[in-house]
Amino acid sequence: MAKFVPVDPFDIVIFGGTGDLSRRKLLPALYHRWLDGQIPDTSTIIGTARSAMDTGAYREMARKACELASGTAWKEEEWPAFEKLIRYVQIDATDPAADWAALKSELTPGETRPRVFYLATSPHLYVDICRSLGKAGLSGEGARVVLEKPIGTDLASAQAINDGVAEVFDERQVFRIDHYLGKETVQNLMVLRFGNILFEPLWSLNYIDHVQITVAEDLGLEGRADYYDRSGALRDMVQNHLIQLLCLTAMEPPNVYADDDIRTEKIKVLTALKPITAQDVRKLTVRGQYAAGLHAGKPAKGYLEELSGGSESETETFVAIKASVGNWRWSGIPFYLRTGKRMSSRHSDIVIQFKSTPHNLFGEDAGTVNRLVIRLQPDEAVRLYVQIKEPGPGGLRVKSLPLNLSYAESFTLRYPDAYERLLMDIVRGNLSLFMRRDEVEAAWRWVDGLINAWEEARYAPEPYPAGSDGPLSSAMMMDRDGRQWWKEG
Ligand code: BG6
Repeated sequence: MAKFVPVDPFDIVIFGGTGDLSRRKLLPALYHRWLDGQIPDTSTIIGTARSAMDTGAYREMARKACELASGTAWKEEEWPAFEKLIRYVQIDATDPAADWAALKSELTPGETRPRVFYLATSPHLYVDICRSLGKAGLSGEGARVVLEKPIGTDLASAQAINDGVAEVFDERQVFRIDHYLGKETVQNLMVLRFGNILFEPLWSLNYIDHVQITVAEDLGLEGRADYYDRSGALRDMVQNHLIQLLCLTAMEPPNVYADDDIRTEKIKVLTALKPITAQDVRKLTVRGQYAAGLHAGKPAKGYLEELSGGSESETETFVAIKASVGNWRWSGIPFYLRTGKRMSSRHSDIVIQFKSTPHNLFGEDAGTVNRLVIRLQPDEAVRLYVQIKEPGPGGLRVKSLPLNLSYAESFTLRYPDAYERLLMDIVRGNLSLFMRRDEVEAAWRWVDGLINAWEEARYAPEPYPAGSDGPLSSAMMMDRDGRQWWKEG
């Protein structure tokens, strides 16, 4: 039996078809789904952009991109058949008077056939593109529109985008992507929590001391200075990826594993997030910016040096937050969030630290040991730390060691990129792993409050050396609470 259930034949149009996201993620994701037999040969992939280019040149660009992204999974002999699916249409999406008929003529006729319009462009074009699609009669039953993050830069701009898109598409046709939700280990979080009897009874303030969510990157700006400097770590990573991870960790079990049930539970967490005000912003958050230091053992520039023109930017490249979810299950339990660029290594973890045993039989440090570590990337794993007795006579010595479920050891499959899963879900019309309008807006509402608090308190970022674990204040924030950031080893 095929491992992958094929989807119905579909058309996908990628706006921004020559851009970074298309080359690094979207085209390679489609290629791999096709290699696995999930995409029918009668499907069509249309790249669009402003550049003058013909289909032959676009296919060549796509080929290079897929080969580069695939590494050892590249299959030269399969390419000729795959590239037959690909076409290019030149269109200036910024021009409402552009000729959309050329695009329309490339699409397979049929109102109900899935037609995916993927907006891999700057968000300020989202509404105009949707309006043009509507005018060209391309927003019918089978149409789905995909919005990449960031959806706006604050609540007001996100609402304006959502309103504009809603003029043309129903909410059930709108797929707001957060690629973290397509990561295998992130999906596994729900399976782990709700597919096992073990964890749920312990999953609350009664047994959990605190939660840590870290997304650390060792990379710096990677040529995205222009976007990043206007965004910063809070808007780029916390507003979407970290908050989504927090929601999946904190939410109640949905009644069924279906899109609106899951999204309704997530929004309850979002609206329970306690606002952070100027009065407590220095206690509850840390802003950092990397200075010169090391990357991969070599000297690395600081953020300001990487920005051209001797900038005095106060954009944060690191943020740590002590967040609180004000509800029955989590009252008083801190959720520590942390993300940064140019940190010592790339790793993303969710750490659930359980409370001490009520009575300590085995010596002073023996109590606070149970910890569930969900390693999202790299070397995906789930580790449950338990107390065990060290072998040997001469006194009873106990030690905390992990029950270790490593994905690489347990599964031999190639690890699909998050976009592979998400693209196929879009074709199927499954919204479970996409953000609903109210979720995006609730996340902005909380983040806007925090940005205002930073501004009111004039909270400038603290430098940290490239290649470190972030500013000193981040360790001190934990220290004040008698806790530490979890570090493996
Ligand atoms: C993106 C951010 O959404 O996620 C980037 O814009 C970041 O700044 C990236 O590097 C991290 O994604 P991943 O999948 O590499 O952890």
